[in-house]
Amino acid sequence: MAYKTLLIEIKDSVELIRLNRPEALNALNSELLCELADALGKADLDPKVRAIVITGSEKAFAAGADIKEMSEKSYADMASERLFAEDADRIVATRKPVIAAVAGYALGGGCELAMMCDFILAADNAKFGQPEINLGIIPGIGGTQRLTRFVGKSKAMEMILTGRFMEAEEAERSGLVSRVVPAKKLVEEALAVADKIAEKGAISVAAAKEAVNRSYEMTLAEGVRFERTSFQGLFATEDQKEGMAAFMEKRAPQFRDK
Ligand code: HXC
Repeated sequence: MAYKTLLIEIKDSVELIRLNRPEALNALNSELLCELADALGKADLDPKVRAIVITGSEKAFAAGADIKEMSEKSYADMASERLFAEDADRIVATRKPVIAAVAGYALGGGCELAMMCDFILAADNAKFGQPEINLGIIPGIGGTQRLTRFVGKSKAMEMILTGRFMEAEEAERSGLVSRVVPAKKLVEEALAVADKIAEKGAISVAAAKEAVNRSYEMTLAEGVRFERTSFQGLFATEDQKEGMAAFMEKRAPQFRDK
């Protein structure tokens, strides 16, 4: 299906999704979020796709939810339309690994979208922020919760109450992003990381993703129990036998997702 707000390419086993509303710095309108949720749902079902990269342009990953679309909404509209909420839930539910490759502005809903991904690779020109306070609102698709878990209460509170932006270097130091790379190399690097993940067995990748994500939702004791059960279950897979045999035979493993 052709999307109006996304450009999609499949490179080897990696799906590259480019947010594409350049006239609005990739502001997330309802159409874009709906198309993105749809594309991720399809990627999850597509056996050719083993990892997903979401990126924007060199100037903007996404400058937030679309202010022009939101400006006339009432409380009743927001509550009844569940604007953004259902699509955000569908995005987070993606089972395959999703990397956010962020260059330029990742503000408001753009920062929140990046944080919904499994990890963020940032370009050296990336700027993160939750400037909703300047519009008389607060983050609405997870920013107060996820930013606080990523960077801690003080920094999250300061950013959300003042609306100040965080540069890439500070974002890396604070644990918001996994790494910073030159802007010109961002997509290449993100695809290389995704390729590396795509080489692994899909069953253990999905288990690892789920276990790490559970750490945000469970107590430590519950999380460790969840991990233990998942770890034990992997010994029922052929990929575990293959991975360990390959190590002992000093060769590369051939995972078959079984
Ligand atoms: C709609 C936007 C937009 C947005 C930029 N544009 N951000 N349109 N919604 N969030 C549009 C501008 O109106 C302009 O269109 C064009 O993109 C280029 O933007 P400029 O402002 O001219 O660019 P620049 O001077 O380089 O400034 C870049 C910027 C600034 C600092 C990123 O655009 C900005 O502050 N944008 C808003 C950031 C923000 O407040 N985000 C949070 C949104 S609320 P025209 O047609 O005028 O040329 C949110 C809530 C999430 O995200 C909750 C979800 C439920």
